[in-house]
Amino acid sequence: MIHYKGSPMLETKRLFLRKMEMNDADRMFDYIFSDTRVMDHLIKGPHQSISETKARLTEITQQYESDTFCYWGMVLKESGELIGTIDLFNFDDDTENCEVGYDIGYQWWNQGYGTEALQAIVEFAFRMMNIHKISATHGMDNPASGKLMEKVGMKREGIIRHMIRKDGQYKDCGIYGILQEEYVERNAGSYIVNDLS
Ligand SMILES: CC(C)(COP(=O)(O)OP(=O)(O)OC[C@H]1O[C@@H](n2cnc3c(N)ncnc32)[C@H](O)[C@@H]1OP(=O)(O)O)[C@@H](O)C(=O)NCCC(=O)NCCS
Repeated sequence: MIHYKGSPMLETKRLFLRKMEMNDADRMFDYIFSDTRVMDHLIKGPHQSISETKARLTEITQQYESDTFCYWGMVLKESGELIGTIDLFNFDDDTENCEVGYDIGYQWWNQGYGTEALQAIVEFAFRMMNIHKISATHGMDNPASGKLMEKVGMKREGIIRHMIRKDGQYKDCGIYGILQEEYVERNAGSYIVNDLS
């Protein structure tokens, strides 16, 4: 059975993972949601105005009332700056499987923050929520995301041809997954995340 825990505050070496707030809107718009370098890799394209970001944040913050909603902002411990988001979604109570998604502002790419956050959420999902399998997909034109998945032990299971269509163009996607038993075996005895809730 999945043990739903909502989105508790988590701590890694350099990050706090915390619930999003309405006053994150300006930062989210400026550094992430309006930036095509980030958003072109996601199904939904960039936001055209801050009002779109506010609407999205309203949708997100309202869902925190539910224990099945798992969506965190990534915040640098040192400065308190919000640099990205990460979430678990598409929970299936029959299989106890789910998916993970993430985005980070362009200026913080390639500094290991994605790996740190994804490791923490994978650990949280397997050890605290009893998730059976976590999956994710990435466009083949976004190899950094596939690399990130590999860095936390996810295995590529195949390529889904024409999985998405963006701006009229079909794109192939790599699909990755990791099983709870693989994670536990790979990380026996080591803990990389603190639950601060
Ligand atoms: C995917 C994303 C979250 C990665 O975050 P990040 O903090 O840069 O990730 P990390 O620094 O922990 O790791 C990235 C790895 O990809 C590698 N990488 C970067 N560009 C690459 C490329 N073009 N080809 C192959 N590997 C690449 C980096 O070298 C690094 O690996 P290393 O640590 O072994 O050197 C970030 O690029 C992002 O937000 N992209 C836009 C949104 C997005 O793609 N979301 C996921 C949709 S599937």
